Amino acid sequence: MIIPMHQLLKEAKKGGYGVAAPNVFNRETIEACFLAAKELRAPIILDVAGVHGIYECAEIARFYERRYPEVPVAVNLDHGGPFEDIANAIRAGFSSVMIDRSQSSFEDNVKETAEIVKFAHACGISVEAELGHVGQAFEYDKTRDSGLTRPEEAADFLAQTNVDCLAVAVGTSHGVYQGECKIDFPLLDTLAAQIEQPLVLHGGSGSGDDNLRKTIEHGIQKVNLNTDLVMAGLDAMEASYANNLEIKVPKGVDTDEFTTKRMNMQQLFAVGADAYKAKLMHYMKLFKSEGRW
Ligand code: 13P
Repeated sequence: MIIPMHQLLKEAKKGGYGVAAPNVFNRETIEACFLAAKELRAPIILDVAGVHGIYECAEIARFYERRYPEVPVAVNLDHGGPFEDIANAIRAGFSSVMIDRSQSSFEDNVKETAEIVKFAHACGISVEAELGHVGQAFEYDKTRDSGLTRPEEAADFLAQTNVDCLAVAVGTSHGVYQGECKIDFPLLDTLAAQIEQPLVLHGGSGSGDDNLRKTIEHGIQKVNLNTDLVMAGLDAMEASYANNLEIKVPKGVDTDEFTTKRMNMQQLFAVGADAYKAKLMHYMKLFKSEGRW
């Protein structure tokens, strides 16, 4: 069932585990998420970026909600930018929205986030915001330190905005790291000790399994994942396309004989979705969200 994100994250905080939040963008990735969550009995958050089709992804998620009603799932707008995208996500039936004003001044971040919270809460929808700025991994060496969340701003931000969960910058970055990911665990401890709301980690990919496991132990409840999942899918598709362009198929209905035929587009997409799902399940286990329902 699609439920507000804060309900999933409150449970995760109580249980001391993390919920995987994969980026999804089409039928294959959304189905892969539902199947992974069902197989592991893990909750899941579908993160949809505005550019990937707000209405389309909402419809597909509802389709799989009907097929697998037992799966606890939230549908969240990732990095909500323009006000129209956030309003459209709410109209489309998302159960949560992120407003990302992490590159604005503290005052503007507070003001615009508080406006969205008022509107979203009136519709029964959770809100995620970002304090500090999680940058792009290709410029990690230049931006890692400048964006770290400042603990002295957190209490004020939360009191003025009333957000349901907070994305914090503690040393991760989006995409493929330039150099090695270094997480500031003392900073995460300070933030977790003073913030009651669940905490979100962006830029999960490439951060290292040990690091990610530790971030859950130190107070993170939602981990955003994109690059590792889509790279796993792409690598599998590439290998399959290069080595196995011909696939074995039965020669007819009444025979055990096989012949070969050229792999088609649907089969290639299925190979990618399987690899995306396998990587996602690896992370769900790592975050200890397996068997939670
Ligand atoms: P990665 O691509 O680094 O996993 O980041 C995903 C993300 O944070 C989406 O919001």
